[in-house]
Amino acid sequence: MSVKLQFNGSEQVSEKIFALPAAEFAKDVVAGLTADKKFLSSKYFYDEVGDQLFQEIMGLDSYYLTRAEFDIFEKRSAEIIKLLSERLESFQLLEFGAGDGTKTKVLLRSFLEAGLDFRYCPIDISDNVLKGLTESLHNELPDLKVEGLHGDYFQVLNALNMKSDQRKVIMFLGSNIGNFSYEKAQDFLNAMSGNLHSGDLLLIGIDLKKDPKVILEAYDDPEGVTARFNLNLLSRINNELAADFDLDSFKHYASYNPQNGECRSYLMSKKEQTVTLEAVSTQIHFSAWEEIHMEISKKYSLQEIERLAESSGFRVKKQLMDDRQFFVDSFWEVR
Ligand code: AVJ
Repeated sequence: MSVKLQFNGSEQVSEKIFALPAAEFAKDVVAGLTADKKFLSSKYFYDEVGDQLFQEIMGLDSYYLTRAEFDIFEKRSAEIIKLLSERLESFQLLEFGAGDGTKTKVLLRSFLEAGLDFRYCPIDISDNVLKGLTESLHNELPDLKVEGLHGDYFQVLNALNMKSDQRKVIMFLGSNIGNFSYEKAQDFLNAMSGNLHSGDLLLIGIDLKKDPKVILEAYDDPEGVTARFNLNLLSRINNELAADFDLDSFKHYASYNPQNGECRSYLMSKKEQTVTLEAVSTQIHFSAWEEIHMEISKKYSLQEIERLAESSGFRVKKQLMDDRQFFVDSFWEVR
């Protein structure tokens, strides 16, 4: 299954290497909702409505992450360019979870202006977002060589021939790594370094530990956008699996555990109820105030980041932070 977007003249290709098949969605949803402790995977948040809601979240005053990283890119791009150009002559720039690219465009523009020789390969779970990104890049940065890849991170890791001779720089921004527990993050980064050459580079954006109040406001905004973002996955299940979730009888709840840095979100069933998923002939029973675990957004300390890098085949080269020290873009080299 391959969707190629060709634009006249320049090389703008978006290749769908893997879709997330409907059967897999159904299987994961049933597995999560029939588990002893109910859960759904946050990777399924990003349907068309979910993409829009995430855009809205990034614009919220309380969601500090996006602005902090934007700040780092605006103020520190010269340092990033220096780190890259000292090490590599030409490279393939792969971005995991590229999204709409608002922040990345700042970097891409400065890379082009500095004369770096690279090809940009955005990877995203949302086909929709990827198409929009490829098109907007074509318009805004016509000189950029772009090749989009659609898929889930692990699928892409396994599918990409990272052992090719082309030198690689991976970008994994926006604290997307936070959606993994520490152990899963380690597994993922180990798989990544294992598919790269020694000397290849990773620029990873990570949200830092901070006042829990600030974190909780980011994940439980007064406007209720994050609540809608979580509840949207129930609508998606209603639509795609002919289910009858009543959204009003579930409530978004965010928590932060300072010991492991995990900010977790849940949807709580406000009453005892039974939900039917017609398409998969399954009924799910909820007791009053039972939870569905929806997402982990883990926060790190700088020391923990060092430990994560060391234990997954990398070496930390530089940590770039915003003024408030809310967020870090950490520059790693494969050992
Ligand atoms: C896109 C995974 C970085 O965890 O902060 C935003 C998603 N969830 N608000 C995050 C999200 C709730 C976001 N990431």
